[in-house]
Amino acid sequence: MANHIGILTAGGDSPGLNAAIRGIGKAALRRHEMRVTGFRDGFRGLMENRTANLDSDLLSGILTVGGTILGTSRDKPNRMPIGGQLLDMTDAMVDNYHRHHLDALICLGGGGTQKNALLLAQKGLNIVTLPKTIDNDVAMTDVTFGFDTALGIATEAIDRLHSTAHSHHRIIVVEVMGHRVGWLALGAGIAGGADVILIPEIPYDVEIVAEAIRRRSRHGRRFSIVAVAEGALSQIEAAELAAAEQAAATGKEGAAKDAAAAQLAALRAQHSGSTLRLAQALEQRTGLESRLTILGHVQRGGTPSAADRLLATRLGVAAAEMVQAGRFGVMVAARGEGAAAVPLAEVAGKIKYVPLDHSWVQSARDVGTCLGD
Ligand code: F6P
Repeated sequence: MANHIGILTAGGDSPGLNAAIRGIGKAALRRHEMRVTGFRDGFRGLMENRTANLDSDLLSGILTVGGTILGTSRDKPNRMPIGGQLLDMTDAMVDNYHRHHLDALICLGGGGTQKNALLLAQKGLNIVTLPKTIDNDVAMTDVTFGFDTALGIATEAIDRLHSTAHSHHRIIVVEVMGHRVGWLALGAGIAGGADVILIPEIPYDVEIVAEAIRRRSRHGRRFSIVAVAEGALSQIEAAELAAAEQAAATGKEGAAKDAAAAQLAALRAQHSGSTLRLAQALEQRTGLESRLTILGHVQRGGTPSAADRLLATRLGVAAAEMVQAGRFGVMVAARGEGAAAVPLAEVAGKIKYVPLDHSWVQSARDVGTCLGD
């Protein structure tokens, strides 16, 4: 029987986090008669023992609130930034878990958080996680909460960008978040009727993109919307990155290993700004003016969609049930209308990319969207 559970939110903020906290907390208090302690700012708050008593007052009115009432951080248990160094502070977290006599700790986060939570589970803590991120890149779950809200925000942005595109006969390039996967750009591109959608899973040829835009012009459609995932790569960039990753991964030692790692880091660093370079290249190749809009953190802001509120609530309730049932070392995955307990070891370190044969990819192609290949 669990009497006292902890909750923390880690990684990027996301719509639905407070709905999930509320789902866990209300189920724990009302159905399972557990006490609930929140830890502030992700794993850092667990290390520093900064807490909040999540009673019914604190849980009231947060369903519709964006972000996380607990705060979050990207700090990792085994590489905690302290005094300019990265220190393994996992033991301090274990101590605080026991100091509070916790029966379980529920961690809400994306792929990185699943990995970090596994570290604590391997130290013997009773851990349950929930899959959160607007990127929808967490493996072994149908979907993550936060994704649906960001999809709606990005789709509305694309809808609105059509106005200036057709009024000025322009190419509007819109950069969509998603880290290293293309779910958000592909989904919003299809829903928003983008003419071109570029995702990391399908490296693009800029000339193919330019020709698709020129073809539209020749048929009287003198504007185009190009939805670009922030991690999308040209075929040249993808080849260079693959070679650098290969070089960094092979068993070089010493200076050779450092040089390979530096080359990889430099390539990744120069990727930022690539969407602006793409917009400029398309203007040069098509003769149409181009403008770039980077949606950025707007996609993570504000109240969660109804779908995310529902998903976060039901996964939160399921997490409290898992704790009560003594199911630990698992992520509560969305599976159809239900939820499944997936071993953390099977989730950690994995990324859910868009499969090239996914129905969304085929749907985009079948309605004439250029995917850059
Ligand atoms: O993981 C969610 C996400 O929004 C990614 O899409 C994006 O690349 C990243 O976080 C931005 O991170 P930060 O909020 O730390 O700038």
